Amino acid sequence: MLIALWIIIFLCLASIIKGSIRYKISPAVSGVVIQNEVIMWLNKETDLKKIIDLGAGFGFFSLKLARRFPNITVVSYEVQPIPFFVMVFLKKIFLQKNWIIYKQDFFKLKSLDACYIYCYLYADSEGKITRFLKDTISRNTKVISSTFALGLNLQHKIKVFDIYQTPIYVYFD
Ligand SMILES: C[S@@+](CC[C@H](N)C(=O)[O-])C[C@H]1O[C@@H](n2cnc3c(N)ncnc32)[C@H](O)[C@@H]1O
Repeated sequence: MLIALWIIIFLCLASIIKGSIRYKISPAVSGVVIQNEVIMWLNKETDLKKIIDLGAGFGFFSLKLARRFPNITVVSYEVQPIPFFVMVFLKKIFLQKNWIIYKQDFFKLKSLDACYIYCYLYADSEGKITRFLKDTISRNTKVISSTFALGLNLQHKIKVFDIYQTPIYVYFD
């Protein structure tokens, strides 16, 4: 029994490590200070209807957004199986109706329609995420990127007071 449990833990870890290498980022959750800054920013919006968490990891931040803004829809895309199953589990426990989750490589999406897109992805040195966003987001969509800058039209840069002074970039059309 104990051996079976260790094997399951090992397989889960191996899957996460493999996925993190393939997608160049682990399913790390955004820090609480960063989450709060993003929520403060979103609080200023008067006409918020939908937020997409692009690469939602285990979904902790998406769930927090869905609970904080019960009248808007939060859509999470995650490609790695283990983090996705954690999201399925969280959704079942919290019965969060305004939270929609997809196990999906977001690069395969043809369009992204939302008021805001939040992402905490890898450094976009090759411009892949930037190109993808330029091709898919609708006209009035704003993008918030934690930590990593994108090649979009920068409107605001928030410096978070955490130990890394993490930047949060806000891009408008
Ligand atoms: C650092 S986590 C961010 C988690 C969450 N957004 C947060 O801020 O707490 C980034 C996640 O993006 C996922 N990811 C990376 N590339 C992806 C892709 N092409 N499609 C879907 N998910 C992707 C990774 O698997 C990882 O779980």
